[in-house]
Amino acid sequence: MRLAIGSDHAGFELKEYIKRVLAIKGYTLIDAGTDTNNSVDYSDFGFKVANLVSGGEVDRGILICGTGVGMSIVANKVKGIRASLAFDLYTAMQSRKHIDANILVLGARVTGQGLAEEIVDVWLNTPFEGGRHEKRVEKIMQFEAEHLK
Ligand code: RB5
Repeated sequence: MRLAIGSDHAGFELKEYIKRVLAIKGYTLIDAGTDTNNSVDYSDFGFKVANLVSGGEVDRGILICGTGVGMSIVANKVKGIRASLAFDLYTAMQSRKHIDANILVLGARVTGQGLAEEIVDVWLNTPFEGGRHEKRVEKIMQFEAEHLK
């Protein structure tokens, strides 16, 4: 699975931690930044990762800011993106099973490293169930096709 990851300054340290964990597990990642703790705008990095997913350069993305809220709003503006903010394992799992979420968003000021690691693991390893959920996701994509450029 091709992955991209991005964060703002508030998510930088968690991003680096998740990168190390995923590298040990054998994933290859595009790191879209940010590269330091210096203050930046989450929107810049959210759009970078969302565009990589939307354009098919990667299969899925992970975004991290302080709360996860800003990154969620940014990512879900991009056509083809279903970004899910998850603070717990159940939400992460359901966002894959039922919504086929293609971006996971974490809040580094809310979720500690250990839980974030587990959330990422569950999210990466849970498949979309399809079935009755397929037509619901298709309705989102149909709306995008009709209303977004
Ligand atoms: C940065 O201070 C903070 O506003 C940002 O990381 C995020 O929490 C926004 O949703």
